[in-house]
Formats: sequence, structure tokens, C-alpha cells
Amino acid sequence: MAVILGIESSCDESACAIVRDGYEVISSQVASQIAKHAVHGGVVPELAAREHLTALQRVLDAALTEAKMTMDDIDAVAVTQGPGLMPALLVGFNFAKGLALGHNKKLIGTNHFIAHIYGAFLEDGKSVIEDKERYPMLALVVSGGHTSLMLLDESGKARHLGWTIDDAAGEALDKGAKLLDLGYPGGPIMQKTGEGGDINKYHFPRPLTGTSGKALSEENRFNFSFSGIKTALLYHVKREKESGNIFEGELLKDTVASYQEAVIDVLVRKTLDAAKTFKVGSIVVAGGVACNKPLRERFIAKTPSNILLKMAKPIHCTDNAAMVAGLGYHYWKKGMFTDINADAFARLPEISEVPFIGE
Ligand code: KG4
Ligand code: ZN
Repeated sequence: MAVILGIESSCDESACAIVRDGYEVISSQVASQIAKHAVHGGVVPELAAREHLTALQRVLDAALTEAKMTMDDIDAVAVTQGPGLMPALLVGFNFAKGLALGHNKKLIGTNHFIAHIYGAFLEDGKSVIEDKERYPMLALVVSGGHTSLMLLDESGKARHLGWTIDDAAGEALDKGAKLLDLGYPGGPIMQKTGEGGDINKYHFPRPLTGTSGKALSEENRFNFSFSGIKTALLYHVKREKESGNIFEGELLKDTVASYQEAVIDVLVRKTLDAAKTFKVGSIVVAGGVACNKPLRERFIAKTPSNILLKMAKPIHCTDNAAMVAGLGYHYWKKGMFTDINADAFARLPEISEVPFIGE
């Protein structure tokens, strides 16, 4: 049995959580900085770092209080080591180092991308991870920083099938919302604004899907591209404004619904193509954009019945520390600890193995 404390500070959420044996979330606290960044229209790394600096101790106290525990009850400290915004990462990573040193605990650095995938297995995912029938597993990670398809086999080997060659899906939604003056972060705002809108009213491109009449190269079959959708929105807005139209009411709602639909259509289409190609036993959908209701509904409607669909619960989709603590447990079990002098990393390293499968 192990009780792991998780700490997350890769972007604009300061989070601490306590998880028992990898799955049972005993407490999870997230302090969002959204309001601080919203006035700037996006996350300002230095501002994020300063906010983590003042928030983390408070968030840790809240997580311990919620769990009715003290640091004595904690077996190890897991923390996001990367990828993410370096100034923000460094605050959480050093905070974790201080805790580990001060309380004589092992330090476990985790990869934020893998932690997002693991988020789908928190609470009730153990049986899925342990079920051989569910492999190979296809993971779609869709967040503000990543849009990737990864294939996982039952021994824990991981293979990146594709990623975005420009913007991430969350970034496309964030930038789209900014262009429409809707605020930050764009994903949830777009979802709300587009509710009830006509998804077919305006046509936005579906890049790298082979639907534009242009043949899709094999190399890009499982890659994504979202910057063209954003450019199309820019021209659409310009055209409508030049015609004297104001972005409100039906025009706004239908524009947002159609734009969001283009992003969803690409994500679902590509994921299902990969699922069919690699004859997967399950599809995992994780990351902040996996909160999106129409996206979830589309996956439910389109996933063939012989494939298990495992979508992270919305609270485990956006940045949180429960996914860090849960993943940390699997490192703990394998004795994979991190040196106290280790550095954080900003970019996604090559991933060939995930630690939570194949035990
Ligand atoms: O995973 P996350 O919290 O942080 C990163 O690691 O990037 O993801 C944040 C992204 C943002 O782009 C945000 O707009 C998007 O997730 N997001 C959503 C929704 N909630 C958050 N996108 C679409 N629909 C939502 N409901
Ligand atoms: Zn994230």
C-alpha cells in the first residue's frame, strides 16, 4: 500500500492531490489562475510562476486537510517534471524537492503527457489496465499543449502514431475564442457559446483528413493540423464584418458551433481511423479538451461496440495533481525515483514506454 502526494504546476493550475495505491483519490485540490491570465488573453509564464509560488503551500494544506492526513502519512512526493512552461514547472518541481528533502520522502518526477493519459484510469481504471483484451490501446491526448495519438501495447511499450504539426486542438479553440473576443480559456467558452448552434451552417476545413480532395500523405495520416481552421475563421469573421454583420446571436452561435465541429470531426475521424488500422481493444481520451461535451458525445456515438471507450472524467481531464499522484504510484512500485538534483524539462521527450502498463 502506498499513499502518494502529487504536485502539478506545468501551466496555470496549482494543484496538489493525495492518491492511495494509484487509483483511490483521497483528496484533490486545484487553484486556478484563469482570472489572472484572462486579462492577457492567454497564459503569461512569469505570472503563472509567481502565482504558483504563493498558491502551492495553501493548496497543499487544503489537500492534506481534505484527506485528514499530515506529511507523515505520505510515502512519496510525485511531481510534474515536464513538459510545460519552464518558469511554472520550476516552482512546483522545487516545491516538491523541498518537501521530499524536508520530510525525508522519495521524489518522483512524472511526465505531464503520460499523466494526462493516466487521468483516464483514476478511480475505476485498474480493471481496464489489467485486461489483456483491451490492448493494443489507443490514447488520444488533447490539451492546450498537445494533440497526439499514442499506441500502447500490453507490455507497456508506447508508440507515438502522430501529433499536431502546428497548433494543438485546445490552442485552436483558445485562439478561435480570442479572435471572436470571447475570452480565455477558449475551450469551455466555445462549448457554451456554441450550444444549440448549427454545426453545419458554415464550413471550416478538416486539415489532414483527405476530405478536401487533396490526397493525404501516409506520413500525415495520423498527424493533426489546426492552424488552417483558425485561418479560415479569421477570413470568415472578416467577410461577415465587411458585410456589416455583428458577431452576436445566431451568427456567433452558428460560427462557434461550426468551428468547434471542425475540430471535433478531425479528432474523432483520425482516432477512429487509427483504431481500425491497429485493431485496438480500447480508446482512451484524455487532456483538457476531453472535457468538451460534444466531443465526448461524438466519441460515444461513433466508437464501435467491440472497442472499449475510456474517457477521463471531466475533473481528471484538465490539469490536476491526482493524475500525477496516481501515475507516481506506479513509479513507486517499480522503485523508479528521481534524483534530488534532477532538472525539469520543457519539451515532450520521445516516449517508448509507459510505466503504468505491463506490471
Ligand atoms: O490539459 P489542460 O488543462 O492543460 C494543458 O496541459 O494544456 O488543457 C487546457 C486546454 C485549454 O486549451 C482549454 O481551452 C481546453 O483544454 N478545454 C476545453 C474545455 N475545457 C478545457 N476545450 C473544449 N471544451 C471544454 N469544455
Ligand atoms: Zn495538461
